[in-house]
Amino acid sequence: MISIKQLSLGIPNPKQAEFLQDTHKYVAFGGARGGGKSWAVRVKAILLAIKFPKIKILIVRKTLSELRNNHITPLVSATNGIAVYNDSKKELTFKNKSTIRFGYCSCQADLTQYQGSEWDVIFLDEATQLREEWFDELKVTVRGVNDFPKRVYLTCNPGGVGHSWVKRLFIDRIYKEGEDPCDYSFIRSLVSDNKALMEKNPDYAKQLSSLPPKLKKAWLEGDWNIFEGQFFEDFIDAPEHYSDRLYTNVIEPFEVPHDWNIVRSFDWGFAKPFDCSWWAIDYEGRAYLILQFYGCTGVANEGLKWHAEKVFAEIHRIETEHRWLKGKKITGIADPSIWSEDGGLPIIASADRHQVYFQKADNSRIPGWMQVHYRLSFDEDGKPMVYFFNTCKHAIRTLPLLQYSAVNPEDLDTSQEDHFADSFRYFCMSRPIAPSKNTLQKTPPDDPLELLSDKKYRLYSYV
Ligand SMILES: Nc1ncnc2c1ncn2[C@@H]1O[C@H](COP(=O)(O)OP(=O)(O)O)[C@@H](O)[C@H]1O
Ligand SMILES: [Mg+2]
Repeated sequence: MISIKQLSLGIPNPKQAEFLQDTHKYVAFGGARGGGKSWAVRVKAILLAIKFPKIKILIVRKTLSELRNNHITPLVSATNGIAVYNDSKKELTFKNKSTIRFGYCSCQADLTQYQGSEWDVIFLDEATQLREEWFDELKVTVRGVNDFPKRVYLTCNPGGVGHSWVKRLFIDRIYKEGEDPCDYSFIRSLVSDNKALMEKNPDYAKQLSSLPPKLKKAWLEGDWNIFEGQFFEDFIDAPEHYSDRLYTNVIEPFEVPHDWNIVRSFDWGFAKPFDCSWWAIDYEGRAYLILQFYGCTGVANEGLKWHAEKVFAEIHRIETEHRWLKGKKITGIADPSIWSEDGGLPIIASADRHQVYFQKADNSRIPGWMQVHYRLSFDEDGKPMVYFFNTCKHAIRTLPLLQYSAVNPEDLDTSQEDHFADSFRYFCMSRPIAPSKNTLQKTPPDDPLELLSDKKYRLYSYV
């Protein structure tokens, strides 16, 4: 017999304790980021493996590297001496023949790893990163003729491709035929529930608190209802402040000092408009959208049709003639898709011909939108890290119209006129900044673990 005393697993906080004790068929643990979810998964998996000899457990996470960082490495180390890890099988085998298998699932094909298998307990860590079809396929593999618990534990944050189905089952509790409401349980955990993290990394909660209001509600407060409506609610166009430049992202144009750096961001419009934006950077790193060239390449808009050659010839003309740009070294950042060669010469070849040079933009969407939000937000003096000249009409017109995506909740709906937004994002990713101090959380979070200080938690009672 393996004694639990050999292991030092730590003390669960009250929410983790609830999770460890929950015996529903489907248990979801979630809410905020950093709520101590992966920790609870690891501890629960070990406790089950020890209590039920020969039990078969599967832990799933979207990617192999996340799986390694969050589960394989810490679990192999925590069970040193009582379990042996086989990396080719991705399996941890305990002395009592219990196994914990590690699986990743970032596409349909990954599911074949588990087809034909039977599991007693599955953990889906960050289940909101998984599609509903994958959940449906995985949950039917929880079966077998033995007396071990048959359960699926899920951890989740609002957002991600799985947002809707997780919200339906565990938050809205709307069930289809064949789903028994009594099988589903949800435990909400917030980052403030995770005292260990708050102590080790107090800046983590601060980073979350500096998000724009909706994302903050989702990721810090675990609110599942926020991904709807306007995406850039933090973009402020306040004409009454154009002249004092406080609490507004839009201002009156001014003469751009000649020694400010200039960046050109570009998003190509295959069917929709293209955007070419010029940004001037002041000595503090604050950006100003000073000029914008915006138009349609497609046939849909007869009035404004631009082909690549004409677009880049015009960009070159503007850069050689405009007094804010001519004679300056301009750094170009562009949508990586213009390097793509399907169907002939890439669009970048046409740009090169006109001496309009670009580097490939970092196209990561969610981190990119974070950078856009950081730039738009105001510091304690009311100044943002990005201003738009009020002459850049298409930027000012399109940004407030963009809505959240119904499919991918942290992203915007890409069927809209989002080319300026993309171009803005590429620019921001080329010069990432830290969030403004002004929005950082001022009061420390509640300390739920204080309640626990005189209690001794005995982990082995949580199976
Ligand atoms: N009860 C606990 N005791 C000690 N450390 C903990 C505990 N709960 C969480 N942690 C630590 O807090 C950090 C964040 O927890 P984690 O489980 O990764 O959060 P989440 O998965 O919700 O984002 C990790 O370093 C984790 O090991
Ligand atoms: Mg985690």
